[in-house]
Parts: sequence; structure tokens; C-alpha cells
Amino acid sequence: MSARRIFVPGDAGALAVGADDVAAAIARAAAAAGVAVEIVRNGSRGLYWLEPLVEVETPTGRVAFGPVAAEDVPGLIAAGLLEGKGERLFLGPTAEIPFLKAQTRFTFARCGIVDPASLADYRAHGGGVGLMRAAALPPAEIVATVTASGLRGRGGAGFPTGIKWKTVLEAAGARKFIVANADEGDSGTFADRMLMEGDPFAVIEGMAIAGLAVGATRGYLYIRSEYPHAIARMEAAIATARAAGWLGADCAGSGRAFEIELRVGAGAYVCGEETALLESIEGERGEVRAKPPLPAHKGLFGAPTAVNNLVTLASVPFILAEGAEAYAAIGFGRSRGTMPIQLAGNIRHGGLFEAAFGVTLGELVEAIGGGTLTGRPVRAVQVGGPLGAYFPPSLFDTPFDYESFAARDGLIGHGGIVVFDDTVEMAAMARFAMEFCALESCGKCTPCRIGSTRGVELLDAMIAGREVAKNAALLEDLCDIMKFGSLCALGGFTPYPVMSALRHYPADFGLAPAASAEKEIATWA
Ligand SMILES: Cc1cc2nc3c(=O)[nH]c(=O)nc-3n(C[C@H](O)[C@H](O)[C@H](O)COP(=O)(O)O)c2cc1C
Ligand code: SF4
Repeated sequence: MSARRIFVPGDAGALAVGADDVAAAIARAAAAAGVAVEIVRNGSRGLYWLEPLVEVETPTGRVAFGPVAAEDVPGLIAAGLLEGKGERLFLGPTAEIPFLKAQTRFTFARCGIVDPASLADYRAHGGGVGLMRAAALPPAEIVATVTASGLRGRGGAGFPTGIKWKTVLEAAGARKFIVANADEGDSGTFADRMLMEGDPFAVIEGMAIAGLAVGATRGYLYIRSEYPHAIARMEAAIATARAAGWLGADCAGSGRAFEIELRVGAGAYVCGEETALLESIEGERGEVRAKPPLPAHKGLFGAPTAVNNLVTLASVPFILAEGAEAYAAIGFGRSRGTMPIQLAGNIRHGGLFEAAFGVTLGELVEAIGGGTLTGRPVRAVQVGGPLGAYFPPSLFDTPFDYESFAARDGLIGHGGIVVFDDTVEMAAMARFAMEFCALESCGKCTPCRIGSTRGVELLDAMIAGREVAKNAALLEDLCDIMKFGSLCALGGFTPYPVMSALRHYPADFGLAPAASAEKEIATWA
């Protein structure tokens, strides 16, 4: 009889809550019972409140147990875990867990399912089809397919990927580059990390397709140093892909060369900004470059470069394999396809939820996320990282898409949602946004470098109750200058969390009543 396959995630989020101990306990207990088991260290399914989530392969599919602690293991095995049976912590068929069942997984289709160390497993689950198609296509056709899919950048700006690739393809240059941006600095986000740890070959496949599309011979994968597990996983996967002929002088039999090099960043937020990231790869200080020239014309080492977020790139294999129409068929308005939304902060069901654009913020926070973990009412959610606006429950009807959020002075960024209950103090959150900008500013332009420090001072004065109305007007003026005068979005978007906090929660700043405060600052945006 073949060994029973048990899945215990090796994902950093699962390791943080004891997955290694659980795997060891299962191995020990199975050996003691004389049962042969194969323990696969898969990625996470993205149901982080259930980690460590142990899955058992049965003839009718995988069943799940969670959250499992090492001390639970003997009891669970005595109750039939190795046969896929149990009561305590038993969640039934994994695919039927409502949080998973309600998702549309295109980009994360294999994450948590495959063995991330195995290229054969990746291929057995449909991986590689897109790359093989791309290898047989002329570059312009790959670009046309991605353009037709409507895919937009998942790094924050939502720029159409096909247009960016076309620009690089048509740019003159003896050499061209792909840069995969896995700096993932946004608060509450972990989609890049989950993919790298759970489905690393999808990242490689996406980068290789991008390389073939724009005529780049080398791709740089930039990962922050806080992601040691992702770094190790990607290093191993790159070596495996190279040995299999997916990388090298003849990329996937295309007759064209493509190689991937991994670079580790030290973890400055601004190094996620594409031009600061290029400086960092070149060995320089992470300082933002003025645009133009765009990286697509003059990027890494002065060569045409496509800088894309990791999720953007990992979305491409599906598009090449299933066709542009399959991707474009779902979505909302100009936001096509799916978005891996990350639910974090004070939320009951924290995790990754991949869905077609258009699901409302309220559905995400209340129905899918289950409200706050503390059980108190939700007061605010910050969407889109530290530069994203705060949304009160009165705006929970906002559909999750680029344009709907922009229309309400917000942004979806990399898809992170951080939830706060009614104990949050919004003036302190506004101060935090300004302080974050001051700490992370690259220092290149005055509105951000100086403005953020002046912003902290103004907010300190308001929090202390000094000349609140006068300082609120000054803060609004300062935000205007930062918004329109900053060189990049770090200084330019810090006004979003600050002004949204002031607009929606004036009482927290000592401004009253809400209606007049709203009127007072209604001219901003
Ligand atoms: C301060 C700052 C930080 C950023 N951090 C990231 C990041 O961590 N990851 C990312 O993909 N994009 C980040 N971006 C956006 C990038 O500059 C760039 O738009 C993106 O990598 C392009 O890829 P996409 O078109 O696939 O979204 C950041 C931008 C700014 C201004
Ligand atoms: S806005 Fe801030 S981070 Fe961006 S270039 Fe100016 S100083 Fe640097």
C-alpha cells in the first residue's frame, strides 16, 4: 500500500504558529502506529485563522483539520486523522470550506494544493501550458493576448500590463530586462509571499512569458529580506526550472534565451517604487528617479525594462493557457479578471480571498471576513497599504475595483484590507501615516521629506488640542502640496490616509460637528 499523503504547510504564516512541530508530531505518531506517510510541505490555502491547516488525501479528495497544534496530533490520529476521519478540528472536504468555495482562483489556483518543491506536480496541475504556448508565439502575439485580457498591474497603480509590455517590446535596446517586484511593503499584504512559497513555478513561468513577450534575456526577482522562506523556495525553484530547460539559452524550447537572477532588498518601503527598486538592484541607494524616462524606455542599467508586480506576472500563465477571453470574461468595469484580496488586521477570518473584481468592501469585511476578531463593531478599514484611504462602514457599498475606489478618494493598491474596531483613534492613525512617510521618505523631494515632518507636528498639535481648526486648515494645505508636488506616490499619496481620517472621523481630531467638518474639507480631493 502506498504511503498516505498528509499536507502540512511550510508557508511562513503556518510556520509562525507551529506547523513544523505539527509535521514532526504527525511523522512520529505515524511511525509509532506503523503507518507509512508522505508529509508534503505545501503552501498555505490562505485561510490563516485555521493554520496550521493539516490536510489528508482520501480517495474522494482532500479533507482538512485545523487549526492543529502539536499536542492535538496523538488524539487526532487516534480518532482517525490518517484515514481522513475525525470530529475535533475536523473541517470536512477542504474545497467545501465556505471561505475557499466562494473564491474564483485563477492566479492562486495551485497555491496550497501542489508540492511547491516539485515541477512535476506543478505540471500535473496544469502548470507550464502557458509558457509552452508562449514559446511558440511571436512576441507581439503574446503581448496582444495579455492586452486583450485586460490585465492591469497588481502592484498598486493598475497600469495595463499589455501596454507596458508593448512599450518595452518596441523600445530600441541591445538588451532588455524583466523585473519582478516582490518587495511587498504594503501593510496587511502577503499575496506575493504566499505565491512564492506555495507556487514558485507560477512566478518563474510568468517571468519567462514576460521575457519572451518583450524580448528580455534576463529577469530580476527582487524580494525583501524579511521573506527568508520565499527566498529559499524561489532559489530552489529557479535551479529546478533551469535544469528542466525552462530557463537558460533556449527558454522552454523557444530558441530564445531567458535567465532569472534573485536579488534581496533590505526592506525599505520606498524600494518597492519601481525606480528606487532599479537603483537598489544596481547597487545604489534606494532613491526615486525622476520620470521621464520611463523604465520601459530606460530602466535597469539604462535598458528598456518591464517592472511588474509579482502577482501581475503570476497571473499571465493562466491568460496564455486559457485565453484572454477567459480572463476578461469576469470582473467589474475596466478592472478585469480576479484580485487576490488580503484580509488582515482585526478580522476574524484573516486570509487571502481571490475573487472577481466587483465584490463590495462590506461583503469582504463582514460576510467573508466575519467582522472583527474582537467582536466589536468595525469602525474603519484601510485599503491599499499605508498610502490608502480609511473607509468607514458608510462606504462599505464600494465595489472592489480601481475606478470605484478612486472615485471615493481611495485606492486598492496591492489588495490589502486592514480592519480596525471602534477602539481605534483616527487622529493617531493620521499621525502614523505622516510619521511613516517621514521615516520612509527617500529624501529626494521637499514636499515629502520636509512636509511629512511638518505634518507630524501639526497632528501633534491637534491631538494636544492646540488651535485645532487653524491647524486642520494648515494640514489640508500641506496635504495639497504633498499630493501635487511630490515626485512619487510615497509623498503624493500620504494625504489619502490623513485626509480620509480627517474627513470621516472629525471628532477624533477635536473637530465638531461632523457635517461642518465634512463641508470644511470637502474641497480637498
Ligand atoms: C512608495 C511606493 C512603494 C511601492 N511598493 C511596491 C511594492 O512593494 N510592490 C509592487 O509591486 N509595487 C510597488 N509600488 C508600485 C511600483 O512602483 C510599480 O508601479 C509596480 O511595481 C509596477 O508593477 P505592476 O504594473 O505590475 O503593478 C510602489 C510604489 C510606491 C510609490
Ligand atoms: S515623494 Fe518622498 S519617497 Fe518619493 S521621491 Fe519624493 S522624497 Fe522620495
